[in-house]
Parts: sequence; C-alpha cells; structure tokens
Amino acid sequence: MEKITDNIKQEIGKLVKDLNYHCYRYYVLDSPVISDEEYDKSYRHLKELEEKYHYVLPDSPTQRVGASPLDKFEKIKHTEPMLSLDNAFSHDEVREFDERVRRFLKSDRDVEYTVEPKYDGLAMELTYRNGILYKASTRGDGYEGEDVTVNIKTIKAVPLKIEEVGAPEEIDIRGEVYMDIKEFEALNKEREKEGEPVFANPRNAAAGSIRQLDSSITAKRKLHLACYGIGAARGVNFKSQWEFIAWLKKARFPVPAIVKLKKGIDEIIDVIREIEEKRKDFSFEADGAVIKVNDFELQRSLGFKTREPRWATAYKFPAHKATTKIKNIIFSVGRTGTITPVADLETVRIGGVNVSSSSLHNWDEIARKDIRIGDTVVVERAGDVIPHVVNVINKEKRGKGVELPKPPKKCPVCGSAVEREEGEVAYRCIGLNCPAQVQERIRHYASRAAMDIEGLGEKNVELLYSQGLVKHFVDIYKLKKEDLLELPRFAEKSAQNLIDAIEKSKRTSLARFLYSLGIIHVGEYAAKLLARNFEHIEGLYHMKSERITEIKQMGEKIAESISRFFNDPENLHTLKTLRAMGVEITNPDFESRKTGKRLFEGLTFVITGTLPQPRQEVEELIEKAGGHASGAVSKKTDYLVMGEEAGSKFQKARSLGVRIISYEELLKMIEDGS
Ligand code: IVH
Repeated sequence: MEKITDNIKQEIGKLVKDLNYHCYRYYVLDSPVISDEEYDKSYRHLKELEEKYHYVLPDSPTQRVGASPLDKFEKIKHTEPMLSLDNAFSHDEVREFDERVRRFLKSDRDVEYTVEPKYDGLAMELTYRNGILYKASTRGDGYEGEDVTVNIKTIKAVPLKIEEVGAPEEIDIRGEVYMDIKEFEALNKEREKEGEPVFANPRNAAAGSIRQLDSSITAKRKLHLACYGIGAARGVNFKSQWEFIAWLKKARFPVPAIVKLKKGIDEIIDVIREIEEKRKDFSFEADGAVIKVNDFELQRSLGFKTREPRWATAYKFPAHKATTKIKNIIFSVGRTGTITPVADLETVRIGGVNVSSSSLHNWDEIARKDIRIGDTVVVERAGDVIPHVVNVINKEKRGKGVELPKPPKKCPVCGSAVEREEGEVAYRCIGLNCPAQVQERIRHYASRAAMDIEGLGEKNVELLYSQGLVKHFVDIYKLKKEDLLELPRFAEKSAQNLIDAIEKSKRTSLARFLYSLGIIHVGEYAAKLLARNFEHIEGLYHMKSERITEIKQMGEKIAESISRFFNDPENLHTLKTLRAMGVEITNPDFESRKTGKRLFEGLTFVITGTLPQPRQEVEELIEKAGGHASGAVSKKTDYLVMGEEAGSKFQKARSLGVRIISYEELLKMIEDGS
C-alpha cells in the first residue's frame, strides 16, 4: 500500500464530493450536467485511488454497490415509533378531519396544512449521525424494524451525507422506498422469463428488493425514495413540516413529487383534486394524499391516538377499476378446508398492475352479485387490497343456459366430501389429510406473523410436502440440511439458511405460537388476548369454553373452537411433540400485565425544561408504563414533569392546578409501581 499524502486525500475528497453532486443531479433532480461517460471516468479514477491508498470516505459513491450477503437482518429499535395514518375515504371525511383538529385545538381559525401524494411503497427510517448515513431500517412493527443499511445505500437517490445545511448531531429521516411502475413491469417480465414468481404490485417488488440479504440484488433493482417525515433529532430543530421539507430539499434529499402548503381545508381539497388528476401521469403508484398539520408545535399539542397521529390523515383515492371477462371459476382450498371460488379473469391492467384472478369469496356472494362464467365484470383494486369483482355489466348478453356456478360436491384437491356447516357461508372439504389443507397449515405455521420461518413460503412448502419430507408442521423440526440439498430448489447456502431460520423460530412468544397453530377463528388478535390471560399454554389444556368467554371481547364461537382444539388428544400430543423438539414459548404479554407496567394507564404527562435524560427517552418511559406524553399543558394534563429552566408550561400547569413532579419523582413512581 502506498503512503497517502494530503494532496491525495484532497483529491479523493473532491472526487467524492463531485460525484455525489452529479449523482444528486441525475437521480434526485433528474437533470444531469455531465455525461454518463464523464461520470464513469471519474468514478473509476476514484476507485483506483481508494484501492491504491486504502482510503475510503464513508460517503464515497463506491460504497453503494452492495456488500457481501448477510445471514439475517439485525433488529433496530426506532427511537420514536413509526406509526400509521388514519384514513379518509371522501372529501367530506377530509373535512371531518379538519373539524376534529380544530375542535381539539379549540380553534375556529383556518389551520395550515401541507399535502403530499401518498406513496405506495415501504416506510424507512434513515439515521444520520454527524451528517453521515449511519443506519437505515424498515418500519417493522412500528417499534422495531430491520437493519437494511447496506441495501438502502445502493439506492442512488439516498444521500450518503447531508450537504449544504450543516450536519446535525443526529437525525432520523423517514420516507418511502418505492419502485416505479415501468421498472416493476420490466422486472416482472424478466422474472417471468426466468421462471421466477412475479411480484403482485410495485410495493411488493420494492419490499422484496429491500428485504434482500444479498444487497447486490437490491443494487440492480432501481429503487427510489421520497422523504416526508422526521423522527428523533438532536442538533437541529424545525418549526414546521414546510420548513423541514425545505431543509430536506436543500440537503439534497428526494422529497414527494408534490408538496403544497395551504391555509384552510378548502384549499387543501383543491390540491387533493389536483393530485388525483395528475395521478395517472405519475411514474409511481400513489394510493392517496397525506394531509398534515404544518406547525410542529400544534402537532405536539394534538399528539397521538394509539397507532396514529391526530395531526395527519391519509385521503385514499377511489379504487382503480377496469372491466374484463370471467373465463372460468376455479376452487381453492384453504387451511381449514374452506373452499373459495376464484374467478379466472382475462388479464387486465388496473392502476398499473396486471390482474388475472380475483377471489369471489363464497357462493352467497356469487348469488348476490349474480356472477356467471363468461360474464363481463367490473374489477376494482384499491391500494394494497386484493382485486375484487364489483358487479356484472352485461347480463342481457349472456348466452342461454349459463347458470349460477355451484359449489363442488367433492373437494377438487382430495376428492373428500364437501359440507356446509349450519349458519356458515363457507363450504368445507372434510378430508383431514387433504393435501391443500395440510400444505396451507404448514405455510401458515411458518408465516411471518406466526413462527416466522423465512424461506418456508408456498413454493418450498409444496416441494417439501410433495417429497414427503414435511407432512405436518411438526416435521419442519425433523428437516436436515442433507435432505434439503437433495432437492432442486436448494443449494448449500439456501439450505443452511432454512435450517438456521427453523432453529431461530424455536424461541417464540405464546401469542405467536397460538396463532401458528391455525385454530379455527383464532387470528392474531384472539391469540394475543389469550396470551394476555393465560401465562402458559398448558393452562389452556382441556379448557372449557365457558371459561374462555369470561375474557372480555372473546366471543362464543371463538371460545368453542379454542376449547375443541385443546380437548382433542391429537392436538395435545402435537403440542407436546413440539415442546420435545425444542420449541420454547415465553409470554411477555402476560408478564407485562403481572408486573403492572400499565401503571400510568389513562394519565397524561407533559415534560418541561431540561431533564438529565433525553426527553424522548423519558416520554418512552411514560408510554411504556401506559401513560400518554403530550407536548402542551391543558386541563387534561395529569402531571407536569419539571426539569431545569422550566418555562411557560410550568406557569400554565400551576394556574390549572396540574400536579407538578420532578424527574426523580417520576422515576420513583415507575420503580415503585413495577
Ligand atoms: S407521513 C405518523 N407522508 O403511509 C405517520 N406517510 O399509512 C406519518 N406514506 O407508514 C406518515 N407517503 O409508509 C407520510 N407523504 C407521506 C407518505 C406516507 C406514503 C406511508 C408511510 C406510512 C403509511 C401510513
């Protein structure tokens, strides 16, 4: 290695700066000022220097090519949770949002709002430390996401360094990663040619590309970013969304294609109309418009509901629609044997996506809509919702003798009898060993919200089942790497990955585990309710349904199904086998109740002045204990936590008779309560 001089350092520094600028001109502004050849030449020169002197700056464009594949994604906790948005489905509902805002603020004056398109992609958080991109994470469950830093760096529009505005100590910038519709189509075409499964829509394609353990694949996928939000920040302060967006632009971040600031809801609705009008010309898929209260102080006063801010709403565009023909009606058999009629459609483009099938849900629905094979129908696709048939449009042109389709008498997969339970709309295959049901149960067991075994999707389950390796989800734990290596879809690495994923999944929570079992009617929510009420799974063994209905919100039908499941000796045997194979179940949901962490349930706290710990962390402590941390003092405030140099909030709290406590007192309350 040659010794580096200051001159070379300077040269490298300048090359990095220039190349990053040109990257910005090309990928963010879409207006390059040099040719591709000139760019490539400088890039090669930089790379040579970096290799010769082993000197690579953190924001060097050479860091964008991807790194060696990861085994798994690490988890990253978001300093401030990444929440979702409330929806408005009509202009009137947007007005109602404005009314709620003003009622809450007790203001009859017009509020200033910003409005932007709602990008249908994947929410990301980019953390910059001292101006350098440090970490990037997916939204995950809102509290914890996955570390996709190397993948995000491959997106050319993502600044590796904050330029032009000074470097804040730390800032979390939020935005949407998305794929352009054209790029999505090209990618699908290529995948079809290669015999790989195609993505259902641009959002899935973007998500699939970001959640790649091999970042060199992400690098090929031409992803984009639109930044629209801020999380935690130190060393920089913004007064409003508008000011923040202006800062983002100056700092060379890509921002939404349209961002407007307006006073009063009427003007906002005009912009929504404008965005709706332009939507068809966007290169990306927008599923709505996001309206935000502009002033950050007002945002803080408005605060949050459980999962959504009160200061923003998403107006959802009406669904995309198209007409097409039903070629055939086929039957799909689900996990519990339910037979669902599915319309096989003449492929049609709806809102930039090809649609060739649509669930018809059940036979009552078919009769209600009077749907028959050969009919021309209106099909609708709303955002992430799976396409569905809205209505038939040319009944009079039907050929004679075309009848309403009937449910099959025998299961189309295993030939067992088909039955309809009293009071249910669904027909079910009663064959317990029906391959369609068995495979669906295995797939469900391994799915993301259940045991989360990455690599056990539909295709692999089908393969493992057909090879006789996995006939029940218990068999998953008997799989050996050698067995996998014999199969066409597996190589050394993918086989090892699956074995590792299976091993990792063995430690799980009771809520997930209960959901995985596929007990009829027990979805994620019911599973959580059970986990909150039963510390151990054994507590459910031989359970009577009356005891389960004692749980608030647990209906009779669910309770009966749960009771039936836990009174069946075969199921209890399965549970014991799973335990014996190393499945370990913990129950954080139950423990958190027992230790009384919901100490502050229903109480509102406001913090003022400087505390010994960052304010966000203190707010988190309050929220973890079930309390609500608000930015402004009002009659509803229960406690004011007072730090040093407390200001007007202290005066206001005193005048309203709000209880005032110190930081130490707050900690003591939490300690004593837990
Ligand atoms: S602001 C507190 N602005 O929509 C949440 N979100 O349904 C503030 N999204 O998770 C989000 N475009 O992934 C915001 N211009 C935009 C957006 C946007 C797309 C997504 C985002 C969020 C989801 C909520």
